[in-house]
Amino acid sequence: MGHFGDVAGQIYERGVAGERPELPMTAEGLEAAARAVLPAEAFAYVAGGASTERTMAANREAFARWRIVPRMLRGVTERDLSTTLLGAPMAAPILTAPIGALGQVHPDADLGVTRAAAEIGLASVLSTLSSRTLEEVAAAAPDSGRWFQLYWPRDPELAESLVRRAETAGYRAVVVTVDTWSLGWRPRDLQLANLPFLRGEGIANYLSDPVFRSRLDAPPEESVQAMHRAVRHWAAVFGNPGLSWPDLSVLREWTRLPIMIKGICHPDDARAAVDHGADGVVVSNHGGRQVDGARAALDCLPDVVRAVGERVAVLLDSGIRCGADVLIALALGAQAVLLGRPWVYGLGLAGQRGVEHVLRGILGDLDLTLALAGYARHSEVGAHSLVRERVG
Ligand code: FNR
Repeated sequence: MGHFGDVAGQIYERGVAGERPELPMTAEGLEAAARAVLPAEAFAYVAGGASTERTMAANREAFARWRIVPRMLRGVTERDLSTTLLGAPMAAPILTAPIGALGQVHPDADLGVTRAAAEIGLASVLSTLSSRTLEEVAAAAPDSGRWFQLYWPRDPELAESLVRRAETAGYRAVVVTVDTWSLGWRPRDLQLANLPFLRGEGIANYLSDPVFRSRLDAPPEESVQAMHRAVRHWAAVFGNPGLSWPDLSVLREWTRLPIMIKGICHPDDARAAVDHGADGVVVSNHGGRQVDGARAALDCLPDVVRAVGERVAVLLDSGIRCGADVLIALALGAQAVLLGRPWVYGLGLAGQRGVEHVLRGILGDLDLTLALAGYARHSEVGAHSLVRERVG
C-alpha cells in the first residue's frame, strides 16, 4: 500500500534525472517565494496579522514548546492516516481552512483549493467571502467533502439564505466563524489602504444571493454605480456585533447539516457552543488576525478538549506549518487540524497545482514523522507522545 511519505522517494528519484521540485518544500520557503511574486497588497493581506502580530508569533512559539519523544521498533510497515469526521471518511485529519478573497492571489482561487483537496481526499472549508459562488465551487468538485463557513450577517434572512444554499449545493457541514464580526486592526492592510471586498473581490456569495439582491435598488451588474451601492450594502450587513449564543439555536431550523463553531479559545465558550447545538468547535484565533495579545490557539486546546472533547469534535488551526505540528495538535486532543496560510502561498505560486504540492508535502511530512516516532496510526498519539520543554 502506498503512503503519503512516498512522495519523498519520488522526488529523490526525479533528482537522479536532474530534476528538482519547482516549488519550495517548507512553509517558510513558500511564504518567501509568494512574497516575491504576489502583488504587495495580496501578500500583505495573507501574511499579515493584528497589530503587533505577537499572537501570530505566539501561535508558532506554542508548537515549539512541545517536543515529541520518538519510540522505536514498533512495526510501522502498514500505516494509515485516514479518519472519519462528522461521519464522513477523509484521507487524513487535515482540512483546508476557509480563506476569503482568494481571487487576489490566483485566478484558480476557490476552485483551485477545492479541487486540490478533493484530488487528495481531504475536506475543504469554503469561506463565505469566496471569490466564486458556493454553487460554482460545488460544481467544480461535486463529490468532494466540502464544508461551508458562515460569517453571520446582520440580516437574518440573508444568513438563512446562505445556509440553505450551502445545504442545497451539497456542503456537508456549516462552520460558523464567531471571532470576526469585524476585521481586526491590521497594520499591513491599513498601510496599503487595501480591503479587497470594497473592490468587489470576495463577495460573490452576496452578489449572487436572492435575499441580498432583493435589498438592492438595482442589480449590481447593471452599472458601476449599482455595483458601488451593492458593495456599500455588503459593508453594512457583513458583520453582526449583536450576535449572541441564543441566536445560534435558529441554525437548527435552517439546516440538518452538522454545525461547527470556529474561533473558540475559552472552555466556557466551547461549552456554550455545545449547549446551543454545535456538533463541534474549531479552536482558533484566526491566525492571529483578530485579537493581538490573544493566547496561542494550541495553548487553548487542552482546556477545550477537557471541557467538550468527549461530547463533540474539537479541531484546531492557527500556526500549523509542518507534520510535527499536526502530530502535536492531535496528541493534545484535536481530532483534525485546518491548514491555512501555507496552501494560500501555494495557490499564489501555481494555482491548484501549488495547493496540491503544499498538501502532499505536509501529508508526506506527517506520515514520516508519525512513523519515525513509532506510530502507524495517528489515533495512537496522545499526551504520552510529548514532553513540554522550557524554551528560551
Ligand atoms: C483567514 N481566515 C478566515 N477564516 C474564516 O473563517 N473565514 C475567512 O474568510 C477567513 N479568511 C482568511 C483570510 C486569510 C488571508 C487568512 C490568513 C486567514 C482564518 C483561517 O481560516 C484560519 O483560522 C487561519 O488561517 C489559521 O492561521 P494560520 O495557520 O494560517 O496562521
